[in-house]
Amino acid sequence: MAQAGLKKAVVLCAGEGTRLRPLTFSRPKHLLPVAGRPLLGWALDALAEAGVEQVALVVGHRPEAIQRYVGDGSAWGLRACYVTQEKPLGLAHAVACARHFVGEDEFLVYLGDNLLEFGVRALVEAYLAQRPVAALFVKEVEDPRAYGVVVTEGDRVVSVVEKPADPPSNLAIVGAYAFSPAIMQAIRETPPSPRGEYEITDAIQRLVAGPGEVIAVPVQGFWEDAGRPAELLLANRLYLDRMEPKLLGHVNARSRVEGPVQVGRGTRVTNCTLFGPCLVGENCVLSDSVIGPYVSIDAGTYVSDSRVENCIVQQDCKIRHLQGGLRDSVLGTQVEVLGREGGSQNPLSLLLGDMSSIRLF
Ligand code: G1P
Repeated sequence: MAQAGLKKAVVLCAGEGTRLRPLTFSRPKHLLPVAGRPLLGWALDALAEAGVEQVALVVGHRPEAIQRYVGDGSAWGLRACYVTQEKPLGLAHAVACARHFVGEDEFLVYLGDNLLEFGVRALVEAYLAQRPVAALFVKEVEDPRAYGVVVTEGDRVVSVVEKPADPPSNLAIVGAYAFSPAIMQAIRETPPSPRGEYEITDAIQRLVAGPGEVIAVPVQGFWEDAGRPAELLLANRLYLDRMEPKLLGHVNARSRVEGPVQVGRGTRVTNCTLFGPCLVGENCVLSDSVIGPYVSIDAGTYVSDSRVENCIVQQDCKIRHLQGGLRDSVLGTQVEVLGREGGSQNPLSLLLGDMSSIRLF
């Protein structure tokens, strides 16, 4: 028997994250950290908070890492299961991979690299109030050519098109959808697009052309599709802006802390200036450095004699003698960037995969 309400969600996290290479060679993009926590962790929070009880994670690239992180879902109060998408054949294909999980129920689809300030509650409420065949979260953007684009009359969608060269409106489709089971039939009837993928947008267009209503629900607050390094850094900034200050580590008297700063347990900060928003994980050692604003540093990292601004630094990195500053950078785990004392005053902007090593001697 079909269950009432939107208790199920299909979370798409099979993508290879090619636009985030080299970071994604060793890890799915959904596990890259934003404000010290994997992207997917924030996404699952949003689903649990909107009343979802069961999630199917569609995995493909490095599935074991995602399974290790999410497990049975109980950390979020969810029941999680996994479905494999063998080949990257598009979002509609990924949703179809979860057809046994969905059965005859209404469900949400959430793109695991999307971050929404206020989660998906508004989408769920609009869907349950109107019971359309589909509800799409949408947001006005300046240049919608990289997105699915909708044309609406009131809140009714009259057409959708994927990544149009000449967009018919500025309303982009955000990576969260509420569907009736009718979408599964629409997906079965959808041919591949010119780029060889089964597009969810094309399947939605079939619903739009059918008898039922598809509605658009505007997103309030920020929406970030963290598919590229600049967007990952922007998402990091948005989440850091919401962070509460908390100093659990040791900050010596000659250090200065300004604005919202978190310092994790076991971390030692000596003769540094920390400009918030800034988050430093556990067991880090920071000395003679200026860190922030908009920096998140994961556990076990060592920074000395450097400036770091607007960066994501993952676990166990070493940054030394970068007086010119490391800016707008994303470092994987166990990365070393070592300058020399009195070295270059030029700032660096780096995108480095796990275990990279740079010596500026
Ligand atoms: C996908 C969808 C697109 C949507 C976007 C939102 O594109 O195909 O319709 O607007 O997600 O993030 P992708 O980012 O996979 O290229």
